[in-house]
Amino acid sequence: MKLIRLSKSCLGEEEKNAVMGVLDREYLGIGAEVSTFEGLLTDYFKRESTCVVNGTGAIQLAVQACGIGAGDEVLIPSLTYVASFQAISATGAKPVPCDIDPQTLMIDVDDAQKRITKRTKAIVPVHYTGGVGDLDNVYKFATTNGLRVIEDAAHAFGTVYKGKRIGSFGDIVCFSFDGIKNITSGEGGCIVTADNVVSERIKDLRLLGVEKDTEKRYSGKRSWDFDVQMQGWRYHMSNVMAAIGIEQLKKFPLMADKRKRLAMQYDKLLSNHLGIQILPRNYYEVVPHIYVVRIAGLNVERRMLLQDTLSEQGIQTGIHYKPNHELTFYKDDTALPFPITTLIYPELLTLPLHPDLSVEDVEFVCKMLKRTVDER
Ligand SMILES: Cc1ncc(COP(=O)(O)O)c(C=O)c1O
Repeated sequence: MKLIRLSKSCLGEEEKNAVMGVLDREYLGIGAEVSTFEGLLTDYFKRESTCVVNGTGAIQLAVQACGIGAGDEVLIPSLTYVASFQAISATGAKPVPCDIDPQTLMIDVDDAQKRITKRTKAIVPVHYTGGVGDLDNVYKFATTNGLRVIEDAAHAFGTVYKGKRIGSFGDIVCFSFDGIKNITSGEGGCIVTADNVVSERIKDLRLLGVEKDTEKRYSGKRSWDFDVQMQGWRYHMSNVMAAIGIEQLKKFPLMADKRKRLAMQYDKLLSNHLGIQILPRNYYEVVPHIYVVRIAGLNVERRMLLQDTLSEQGIQTGIHYKPNHELTFYKDDTALPFPITTLIYPELLTLPLHPDLSVEDVEFVCKMLKRTVDER
């Protein structure tokens, strides 16, 4: 039986040759390839881009570089990967989970407003699935309340909002290049911002806080006599990772197009089914990272049975995500309730999506999903 994977890395000879080139040169750390990849990303976004070890580290460093830490609070939708929460709590700050908008499944700023305290310093909108919702409203809310905006754009590489590429505007935007993202560098991530103070600080933070080491590393040198003024981390990207990222960026237009076409096909095949609700996303602008549907009347147990049935047909599915306010580490019994997240979470199901998926695969997934939902 053929296995239809939920997601996968899509690599070719180009990435393999690029990695072999780095291995042959025997300079694996942060050097020429990272510098080149950052240059390409800076051209792509028309803004300073700094590469780090993963998307989680990107968010952590962005929060820290804003001077946010112990005693501070950061607003974030509960419906996100635990990575977003861990990135915030790693700085000492408290992630404050918020409810979501029932249509877009993005942070509900009216709900966020109710959770603001004197300690609130930032909001982290999560571009769930690759869409961005009403981002203008998030920025309006942040301006009104004097907050920094750190966009978790792990899902949204390539997405366009009102004619502008995500990352090319706004405060601070963090991307992930993990193995299954819209582009991958194996693991990896980057921070894009026009705030020079923040980007300079992040460049030091990713190299253990060693001041101004990046330029030396890019010319094959390093600092021997240096000062450190803050807690840093060993979070820089390596040349091996950047070599993969450079090749992926070249292929991105084709891969993005494929993702969009497959998502549009899912929309077309599923939108006429009463029990299945598709998410409102405009795939002329959104590059989808994952394809999520809502299935009316599901609960966690029934969803597991549905997943088992699809799995028997060789179809992998996923759940994005277990709400963070339900996790022991982040549970707060005094918090306001999360009615929309609580209602919607058990109904969410993620269907396979990656550039190696075929039109026939999508047709098969839709046929099996509809059949299974109808037989319930
Ligand atoms: C919404 C979201 N934020 C952050 C991350 C963290 O990215 P990384 O896996 O590169 O650390 C992910 C990764 O899956 C994610 O899905």
